[in-house]
Amino acid sequence: MRLDKFLVDCGVGSRTEVKKILKSKQVTVNGQVETSPKAQIDEQADQIAVAGQGLTHEKYVYYLLNKPKGVISATDDDKHRTVLDLLDDTDRRKEVFPVGRLDIDTHGLLLLTNNGPLAHVMLSPKKHVDKIYQAQVDGIMDEADRLAFENGIELKDFACQPAKLEILALDEEKNQSTVRITIREGKFHQVKRMVQARGKTVTDLQRLSMGPLRLDSQLALGDYRRLTVEELTSLEGFGVEL
Ligand code: URA
Repeated sequence: MRLDKFLVDCGVGSRTEVKKILKSKQVTVNGQVETSPKAQIDEQADQIAVAGQGLTHEKYVYYLLNKPKGVISATDDDKHRTVLDLLDDTDRRKEVFPVGRLDIDTHGLLLLTNNGPLAHVMLSPKKHVDKIYQAQVDGIMDEADRLAFENGIELKDFACQPAKLEILALDEEKNQSTVRITIREGKFHQVKRMVQARGKTVTDLQRLSMGPLRLDSQLALGDYRRLTVEELTSLEGFGVEL
């Protein structure tokens, strides 16, 4: 690959910044100063250093984001801020995208990566990846709702697979419930529509987990971090290159 692309991918700087750094003779390839952005390198075999600091090429990156309400899970949009606007410039250069979608008013765990094959398998209906949500609901959810979720809720356009409804708290006075819902699909507005099908309304929705990944309580809304080694290892079960 081209040396300037390698340096941009490694987060050294933008293409223009990288060009300047190359010109200032700070970059070496196998110990030899290289100043041309177009120089071809083998990112697996060649030793690249900037100001004596060795670099390793990352093919894929993974960010765990605590998505806030008000931003959309897309890579660009004319009207709204997107989850990519929450990344710093270096991290955004990695061309990541969200694995699946959360509604604009849903908050919580969202994985961003540039690993297409991983996203593909995590979203495949055949893989049955559990997604756990916590919801505030207007209305009192009960055992009949739990059974209906377990049996598979029938929506107008499709029949949901069995899902788990756990009732965490009820406030009879305010007529509100706090519930945890586990689904294996990811249809448009699915959780809200399943609750609606039982005559109640979701007023707040937070995603707590997706497969082996859990929302990190240390992450404030809008913050993100790279996956830990343990989290990355937990994704090995999907059988794709990480
Ligand atoms: N179900 C919904 O209704 N909305 C989401 O954002 C995710 C799941």
